[in-house]
Amino acid sequence: MITATDLEVRAGVRTLLSAPGSLLRVQPGDRVGLVGRNGAGKTTTMRILAGEGEPYAGTVTRSTSVGYLPQDPREGNLDQLAKDRVLSARGLDEILAKMEKLQVQMAEHADEAARDKAIRKYGNLEDRFSSLGGYAAESEAARICNSLGLEDRILNQPLRTLSGGQRRRVELARILFSASDGSGGKSGTTLLLDEPTNHLDADSINWLRGFLQNHDGGLIVISHDVELLDSVVNKVWFLDAVRGEADIYNMDWKKYLDARSTDEARRRRERANAEKKVSALKTQADKLGAKATKAAAAKNMLRRAERMMNELDAERVADKVARIKFPSPASCGRTPLMASGLSKSYGSLEVFTGVDLAIDKGSRVVILGLNGAGKTTLLRMLAGMEQPDTGQIEPGFGLKRGYFAQEHDTLDDKLSVWDNIRFASPDAAEQELRSLLGAFMFTGPQLEQPAGTLSGGEKTRLALAGLVSSAANVLLLDEPTNNLDPVSREQVLDALRTYEGAVVLVTHDPGAAEALNPERIIMLPDGSEDHWSEEYLELIQLA
Ligand SMILES: Nc1ncnc2c1ncn2[C@@H]1O[C@H](COP(=O)(O)OP(=O)(O)OP(=O)(O)O)[C@@H](O)[C@H]1O
Ligand SMILES: [Mg+2]
Repeated sequence: MITATDLEVRAGVRTLLSAPGSLLRVQPGDRVGLVGRNGAGKTTTMRILAGEGEPYAGTVTRSTSVGYLPQDPREGNLDQLAKDRVLSARGLDEILAKMEKLQVQMAEHADEAARDKAIRKYGNLEDRFSSLGGYAAESEAARICNSLGLEDRILNQPLRTLSGGQRRRVELARILFSASDGSGGKSGTTLLLDEPTNHLDADSINWLRGFLQNHDGGLIVISHDVELLDSVVNKVWFLDAVRGEADIYNMDWKKYLDARSTDEARRRRERANAEKKVSALKTQADKLGAKATKAAAAKNMLRRAERMMNELDAERVADKVARIKFPSPASCGRTPLMASGLSKSYGSLEVFTGVDLAIDKGSRVVILGLNGAGKTTLLRMLAGMEQPDTGQIEPGFGLKRGYFAQEHDTLDDKLSVWDNIRFASPDAAEQELRSLLGAFMFTGPQLEQPAGTLSGGEKTRLALAGLVSSAANVLLLDEPTNNLDPVSREQVLDALRTYEGAVVLVTHDPGAAEALNPERIIMLPDGSEDHWSEEYLELIQLA
């Protein structure tokens, strides 16, 4: 169980959440959906509940073990094998390593006493190993990994060699493994999962849903995946960025949606009433102001009206939605980007080979392929960020690329929001950049914020703003809708619909492909091409 009492969460000087009392509590059997707009404070709050961050005020108590999946993958020891990383959740990797060492010693020791000692030690370790689930646990770990789309081959690789998406799946597997004891018994672990479905294919998401439905400990999940919320959660905490409060709904997702829309209708009514009051106050004040004796009263009235107005405005600004428009592309030749004979291997593993392609001016292409087929790798090559083993990229006349990376690696975490944009387009005028950032909802003190401290959705927004400022004529987009809340996602997709330049898209989000309305697909690993048809939507979900 996790309980937060009188919790207050801040970011800089802003209060993200103030929750008096002990309403924020997760008990075994509670499956909480923690939701709210991008930047509302979901990640920050969850970190604090997990014990990885300190609240500004209040206390958090934890009476069970906690399995926490952060939104950004942690670094850690990259030389560790993926398999060992998962097993380490229950300390099994260390026991196994020690047992292996002792085996060698037992064989080597000539001295009988020393050998007996090693044998005894080995026996103790084996006991501990089996009390923790032993070899069954090892296969349990492998089963979880496979269900999340991690093949055995990958499990025996060091983390360093895995893609960002694969590493994140290893982390998820590790946490789920820590929460399951394999025998169907009660583990009681409280799971805290921040966007667990990013990087997962449809099969894995299905499996995850089942796992979470059967989880007997508590659960808090942050997700923009509506289907997951619908099938898993029985409580909803809605973080309201405007009021800095959490609304607690003890009900499932469908009922919550109804209750929310009722609440919102009520707030709209209250707002309309407040606006009426403000204008009545102003009229009154005008009338009073005409009489000298009533000037002070009139002033007070105006001040009250202004205060009410300011509160209403704050709400309006915070609820604003980015109206994003991609740039008019710089002019270019007929085929701004070509590639021939591209191939890539990691060690003995051939990812793809002999891929040819031509991106015509204004054309729209989706790259398809299963997990690990090399979609991100191909996009990075087209962006000029990674060298192919064979073949070449041939830039056409006037080519201007805009690359959007899955893990936001186009952003410099240490630089401020403002400097990131300035370096992305050094030639643009300051005023132009300011209004561009405004259109993407970055204003005031947030311009000075280091990009590394932005929320997941805010990072996505900033990276997209960087693209917009560059007048690119070929956009290379890798999962541009990950991390976006539903409203922001629609904005980005709208911008895609009207963009005039060429787009090469990698996505797990069928809605994103539909919005792009592509002409062609390129299938990895073989690089074959086909006309777009609706049937490919299914493949996108699988990938
Ligand atoms: N050091 C800081 N200074 C100022 N603001 C900060 C700082 N660190 C974080 N923030 C802000 O706190 C807010 C909450 O961030 P958080 O990551 O918790 O949001 P979130 O609800 O998880 O959003 P998302 O859905 O995009 O993941 C964001 O607006 C972020 O920019
Ligand atoms: Mg977040």
